[in-house]
Amino acid sequence: MKVLITGASGQLARAFIRRFQQDGTTFLAPPEAQLDITDAGIVGAAVSAFRPDVIINGAAYNNVDAAEKTPEVAFRVNRDAVGILADAARQHGVRLVHFGSDYVFDGTTQTPYDETSSTAPLNVYGQSKLEGEAAALAGGPGSLLLRTSWVFGDGTQNFFWKLREWCRDRKSIRVVWDQIAAPTYTEDIVTVTLKALEQGLSGRWHLTNSGYASRFETARVFLREIGMDCTVIPVGSDAFPSPARRPFFSVMSNRRLTERLQTRIPDWEDAVARFARALEAAPTDAP
Ligand SMILES: NC(=O)c1ccc[n+]([C@@H]2O[C@H](COP(=O)([O-])OP(=O)(O)OC[C@H]3O[C@@H](n4cnc5c(N)ncnc54)[C@H](OP(=O)(O)O)[C@@H]3O)[C@@H](O)[C@H]2O)c1
Repeated sequence: MKVLITGASGQLARAFIRRFQQDGTTFLAPPEAQLDITDAGIVGAAVSAFRPDVIINGAAYNNVDAAEKTPEVAFRVNRDAVGILADAARQHGVRLVHFGSDYVFDGTTQTPYDETSSTAPLNVYGQSKLEGEAAALAGGPGSLLLRTSWVFGDGTQNFFWKLREWCRDRKSIRVVWDQIAAPTYTEDIVTVTLKALEQGLSGRWHLTNSGYASRFETARVFLREIGMDCTVIPVGSDAFPSPARRPFFSVMSNRRLTERLQTRIPDWEDAVARFARALEAAPTDAP
C-alpha cells in the first residue's frame, strides 16, 4: 500500500507517519508548503506523480473560535479542499480517508450519537466539517469518513499540551465540566483506521476511544497520570466566554465500527495513561 498523507505537521498525520516508518509502509507526507490541499493543481500533480493507493487527509482548519470570524477559511480547508482531494481520488482510482468531527452534533442527545443520528452543528467549524463530510463521500465508493473527537497526540495543538503549560506556573486551574465527549488518542485512531482499510471499509463511521468524560474529568486524569500537582476546579463554560458555541454532550458511540471490525477500542483513560507514558519518555520534546 502506498499512502499520500496531507497536513503532515498535524498531530494525527504525525502519528500515521510514525506508524508507517515503523511498519515499512511506503508513504509521502509533504509539508503544507509543498502540498496545500486548497490548490487543485498541486493536489492533482502530487497524486499523478506519486500514484498512491490511499490518500489520508490529516489536514484541517481546527481553530473553532477563529472560524467564527473567518468562516471563509474554515470552509475553504474543511469543505472545498476536501472536495479537491475527493476529485483527485475519484479521477485516479485512489481511496480517500477523511476525518470528521463530533462538532457536527448539537450535544443535546440523551444517548451517544451513532452514524445515523441527525446533525445540527452549533458553530462555523462544525458546519464546515459537516459539509466536508459530503465532499469526502463524493470521492468514490471506497471513501472512508471517520468521525472522531477531542483528538490528542503529538504536537502542541491539543488540550493536554495546553493543560500542562497552564499548570507549570499555577497551583490550580479552572476547567469546564459542561462539555462532554470521548477524548481520542491519535495512536488508536491510526490502529483502527488501518484495520478499517485492511477490511475494505467505506462510508461514515464513528472512531473514538471508548467511554466519555467532561473536560474537567479528562484534565484530572491527565494531570494525575503525568504526576503534576495542580488542583482542577470545575466551572461552567460561561466562565470562559468564547466566540463559538460548543456542544454539551457530543459523545459518539463507536459500537458499529467495533462490531464491524470485530475489535475493541481502548477506554479513554487507558489512552491518556499511554500518552502520559509517551510524554515521560520524551519530556523535552514538543510531543
Ligand atoms: N483536534 C481535535 O480535537 C479534533 C476533533 C475532532 C475531529 N478532528 C479532526 O481530525 C483530523 C486531524 O486533526 P488534528 O488534531 O491532527 O489536526 P491538527 O493537528 O490541527 O493538524 C491539521 C494540520 O493541517 C494543516 N493544514 C491546514 N490547512 C492546510 C492546507 N490548506 N493544506 C495542507 N495542510 C493544511 C495544519 O497546518 P497549520 O497548523 O499550519 O494550520 C495542521 O498541521 C482533522 O480532520 C480534524 O478536523 C480533530
